Amino acid sequence: MQHSCSLAPVTVTEKVLSGPCDNSPWRVGQTGQGSGFGKVILFNEHFVVHGVPGIVSAIDSTAHAYAEARKTGDGITVRDERKGAEGYTEQKKLQQQDSLGRMLKAMGLSREEVSLEIRLGGTLPGFSGIGASAASSVAIARAVAEELKLDLSDEKINDVAYEAEKAYAGTPSGIDNTAATYGGLIWFKKALGGGANTIERLSVTEPVEIVIGNTGTVADTKAMVAGVAARKKTNPAQYDRLCQQAEGLAIKARRALEDFDLRQVGELMNENHSQLKEIHVSSKELDYLVDLAREHGAFGAKLTGGGGGGCVVALTPGKTLQEDVAAAIEREGFQALRTKIGRRKSEEKPVPAEGRKKIGF
Ligand code: PMV
Repeated sequence: MQHSCSLAPVTVTEKVLSGPCDNSPWRVGQTGQGSGFGKVILFNEHFVVHGVPGIVSAIDSTAHAYAEARKTGDGITVRDERKGAEGYTEQKKLQQQDSLGRMLKAMGLSREEVSLEIRLGGTLPGFSGIGASAASSVAIARAVAEELKLDLSDEKINDVAYEAEKAYAGTPSGIDNTAATYGGLIWFKKALGGGANTIERLSVTEPVEIVIGNTGTVADTKAMVAGVAARKKTNPAQYDRLCQQAEGLAIKARRALEDFDLRQVGELMNENHSQLKEIHVSSKELDYLVDLAREHGAFGAKLTGGGGGGCVVALTPGKTLQEDVAAAIEREGFQALRTKIGRRKSEEKPVPAEGRKKIGF
């Protein structure tokens, strides 16, 4: 299948629900491979596109890619084996093709040079809202770089994944690819003028249990981001006020996380969900799951990611509360992912020195 970018033919095969690549029959060790972290945005998705700070945490699920160079000049073929929400791979196929073309270009590769077979899997399910696209882009960029012996720094991988994110989000903030590249808990602020984005590591006393609840609806982040931008243009005063409020909330949330005041973090998540409702990115199902999580004791809950479908995140410190909330979500027929935010330092990669970071080209 010919993809929409003119750089190289890219084929994405049908989804095969065969589980993560880790059981790969591929000659692991002889092919390039790489991973990217999944993530939850704890505060300020959408606002972050407009220069408001956001807080994001990697989760312990990752996308993993293998890349093998072929002798034939067939461009890139991707076998997407991620376990996902029904329809996710299918609905994202065109955007994935576009993203691959953008990645090749950002890596300085041309059609003549590239003939690769890529296999995509890992433990991160293909749910909307948990950074599946960014994690897969980072995994693929790392796998291709390793296979082609390109010595790319994490900073460059992040830049490549940012280019890929444009296919999925239109005008991405860069928060997803940053979390996918570096992992951990991150304070992120996009430099709207094109300068250096702010990327700062945050730390918490210990990792905290969360539940991710999936509405099962595949969301189109690009359309959601474009919708917010259009409404902001029509209602500048209202959106400027909302952006200011969201900025104030992020500052409070950062302090609460650093003080490990989880009750306060939860309350601020609830507040952030109300703000996200005001910019019309929630949905009936998202509100339902948010209410359900709160009723079952979550310290706070909100939509996470692009909204309009996709996932909610509930703060559920401790295994018992996490299980209560996850089980309640599952009883209602939705999928729940039990994971943690604020992973240990050993699982992170160093972020670029503050102030030096420049995302994009
Ligand atoms: O839906 P996701 O996981 O791709 O998250 C999108 C987050 C947005 O803030 C809506 C867009 C962005 O690039 O920051």
